[in-house]
Amino acid sequence: MATADGTWAYRDRFGESFGRTYFRRFPPGVCSSVGIGTYLGKPTDAVDASYRTALTTALENGINMIDTAINYRCQRSERVIGEVLAETEVDRDSIVVATKGGFLPFDHERPADPGQYIAEQFVAPGTVDPDRLVRGSHSIEPSVIDALLEQSLSNLGVETIDCYYVHNPETQLLERSPEAVYDSLEATFAELERRRAAGDIGCYGLATWNAFRVQPSHEQHLSLPELLDRAARAASEVGAVESSENHGLQVLQLPFNIEMADAFTVDSQPAPSGTADDDPVSVLEYAHEAGLHVVTSASLGQGELAASIPEAVAAELAGDTTAQRAINFARSAPGVTCSLVGMASADHVAENIAAGTFDPLGAGAFDAVFE
Ligand SMILES: NC(=O)c1ccc[n+]([C@@H]2O[C@H](COP(=O)([O-])OP(=O)(O)OC[C@H]3O[C@@H](n4cnc5c(N)ncnc54)[C@H](OP(=O)(O)O)[C@@H]3O)[C@@H](O)[C@H]2O)c1
Repeated sequence: MATADGTWAYRDRFGESFGRTYFRRFPPGVCSSVGIGTYLGKPTDAVDASYRTALTTALENGINMIDTAINYRCQRSERVIGEVLAETEVDRDSIVVATKGGFLPFDHERPADPGQYIAEQFVAPGTVDPDRLVRGSHSIEPSVIDALLEQSLSNLGVETIDCYYVHNPETQLLERSPEAVYDSLEATFAELERRRAAGDIGCYGLATWNAFRVQPSHEQHLSLPELLDRAARAASEVGAVESSENHGLQVLQLPFNIEMADAFTVDSQPAPSGTADDDPVSVLEYAHEAGLHVVTSASLGQGELAASIPEAVAAELAGDTTAQRAINFARSAPGVTCSLVGMASADHVAENIAAGTFDPLGAGAFDAVFE
């Protein structure tokens, strides 16, 4: 598992080569503010081989945050990460490994009939309650997350997953009431608190696409104060922590890039308690006040922002290439700990790590980009 000593030692090994605040606090120690994602790409041996090289290059040159999900590329992304962790000379305790569960995964390749596959593999054995299965493939019930977490530990070949996300929980809101979804999440948080106490995970989080960048009136909106209350209740119920304040819900993942900056611009959350005025705030501001870490996904707009970004924005950002400037936008946003970039190419890894040799924008300069 990642440890404070291991991640700080990694920072000491690489920190001098990077700009200010390239490494940032993340439980249990520090992580690089550029992380490697493993979502895109076909479920083929050739893409596995590319990711194997890209992941090794990343770990050996200053990226110690790896992000995946059990369903990515039919579990192949997790399995490739497992192989790389077993083979690399970089110490396991210096690497933050994050994965997600919520979408029922295929195994190795896409089956001819996905509906039949899910019925046979997950519904028939009783792993998944069909009444809680949304869009035919998404479930966040504790028994499901428990089974997926177990499979992820095996795929990754690790004893501990450092950060375990419930994947796109807002998908449930498409077919179930908010109260029912919050109840399911509270029950799952309790299960994740138990797994945390057992050492199977380090902390947990919510990886989202829409939930935190839409207005409260939107059907897929989730309320952070409600979620934090639910996590505190789950922690108390399990009794595994000294106080409900020490619950394991510590990380949010959400899309954030030059074209999709809603996490900064949309006031999706109420005023944090204890603040002077009652005006709603952005999820980045609420998360910061609540002490949550934010990890950005789609930092390059799934590749499009490596090709071009608006000239006026580019002029404000540091970097030798368009991709580096786009990455430096995401990792400069106030309250962001790490920006994930999907990279199956070792050349992209080299280019994107070098984004970290530039200092991020200060808060004033970041605001100025929007003006
Ligand atoms: N809801 C969720 O939980 C959620 C949703 C989306 C993403 N994520 C996570 O966030 C990670 C990042 O998002 P993403 O992968 O969707 O999108 P992204 O990081 O915005 O873009 C990845 C794409 O950009 C390309 N690329 C990377 N560096 C480049 C460069 N320097 N020049 C040109 N192209 C470059 C990659 O190509 P190569 O692969 O060929 O290097 C890949 O096709 C994911 O991998 C995943 O781990 C989570």
